[in-house]
Amino acid sequence: MRFGAVFVAAIVAVTVAVAVPSTATDDSVVIKNPKPANGTTKDVPHYVVDLSKPPKERWAHIVKNYKPEMQDLIRYMKKLLSPKVFDDITVLLGDLDNALGQPWADEMRGAADALDVDVGDVVLANLYYEADTACTSIVAQRSNGTIFHGRNLDFNLPDLQQTTVEVSFQHGEQGPTLYRATTYAGYVGILTGMRPDGFSVSLDERWTKNGTLWDNLLDALKGYHPVGFVLRTALEEQKTFDQAVQYLSTVKLITVSYIIVGGVRANEGAVITRERESAIDVWRIAYPNRWFLVETNYDHWKPVPASDDRRDPANKHMHATNSSAITPDVMWSVMNMFPNLNSETTYTVVMSADTHYFKCKTQNNKP
Ligand SMILES: *[C@@H]1O[C@H](CO)[C@@H](O)[C@H](O)[C@H]1NC(C)=O
Ligand SMILES: *[C@@H]1O[C@H](CO)[C@@H](O)[C@H](O)[C@H]1NC(C)=O
Ligand SMILES: *[C@@H]1O[C@H](CO)[C@@H](O)[C@H](O)[C@H]1NC(C)=O
Ligand SMILES: *[C@@H]1O[C@H](CO)[C@@H](O)[C@H](O)[C@H]1NC(C)=O
Repeated sequence: MRFGAVFVAAIVAVTVAVAVPSTATDDSVVIKNPKPANGTTKDVPHYVVDLSKPPKERWAHIVKNYKPEMQDLIRYMKKLLSPKVFDDITVLLGDLDNALGQPWADEMRGAADALDVDVGDVVLANLYYEADTACTSIVAQRSNGTIFHGRNLDFNLPDLQQTTVEVSFQHGEQGPTLYRATTYAGYVGILTGMRPDGFSVSLDERWTKNGTLWDNLLDALKGYHPVGFVLRTALEEQKTFDQAVQYLSTVKLITVSYIIVGGVRANEGAVITRERESAIDVWRIAYPNRWFLVETNYDHWKPVPASDDRRDPANKHMHATNSSAITPDVMWSVMNMFPNLNSETTYTVVMSADTHYFKCKTQNNKP
């Protein structure tokens, strides 16, 4: 959930609770009244992460280019978190290899070294990224069976654009590329990625009434996994759309979420609605009647809150085209329409595991 927004909402609720009782729907609003994007669009630097290297050495060549930006971001995140979170992180660090496992523990240690920050700061940033994102994801099937997957990642952290990187994960510098992702320097999980000839995947935040990750960090991690780490594991280990959907529907997660998956054959498109234990719903493309699926940050079978309707406009923009006309360029233009593109969007990606198309740009850059 969006920690900053809820933190503010909680204060407001305390002071005005008597006069203005808030409704259940309002509590769960992810972007209240989205505003138009303002800023430029930029290309994203590309790097290789060599999986044949020891985990501690995989990220140094990337994160060293983003030292001041990352240090600023970590400082900003820390200001939003309560002292209890820092106590929990200290406990975690005592047993990081067991609590988060490998290669995550060593990749974060290596990144912390290269950034000149404490390991705890990198752990905190890694947990923060998946707990506070707002998004739009769309999977669509062209009439010839090819699947296209678009996604905007919206975030209320400042200047995240400057740490956005595109990474090809491969064994050896020369490749081939096992999977490709758009991510943030210092973040070792994946929120948006594609395994060529396998599947594409993106994570959208889902609201839970059952407290935040930060309230119960240590409990949340007992036997459960950070979602971004799980997405990367899926890209590394699952070969097909069906295997990925099966794995992503059953692996235990530290937070509830929506996981959007696109494949390489007709009808291989799904939105998985996750509780921590397992999926409660898997919604699939059913061509030709349901040739695309739109997921923002609300259960697809329920209405969206009036103050954050990014779903109906996306549906309308998709219905303005059709499955014979949809191409990566058309998908790109849909992803760039308000309010799916808004002032909080950090990047836009359109990808296709079938054709290997992968286009990524940051949004809302300062001129
Ligand atoms: C857009 O950004 C510029 C520069 O940061 C600022 O001066 C301007 O007021 C912004 N416009 C809107 C509509 O927010
Ligand atoms: C379907 O059409 C797209 C866009 O023209 C093309 O890139 C893709 O290769 C086609 N797929 C098949 C299976 O012909
Ligand atoms: C709420 O979270 C706690 C701790 O993470 C968990 O034990 C409990 O089962 C959750 N309750 C529901 C209804 O999901
Ligand atoms: C699909 O969209 C294209 C481009 O807008 C249009 O030319 C075509 O007539 C549409 N096809 C159908 C079946 O509506």
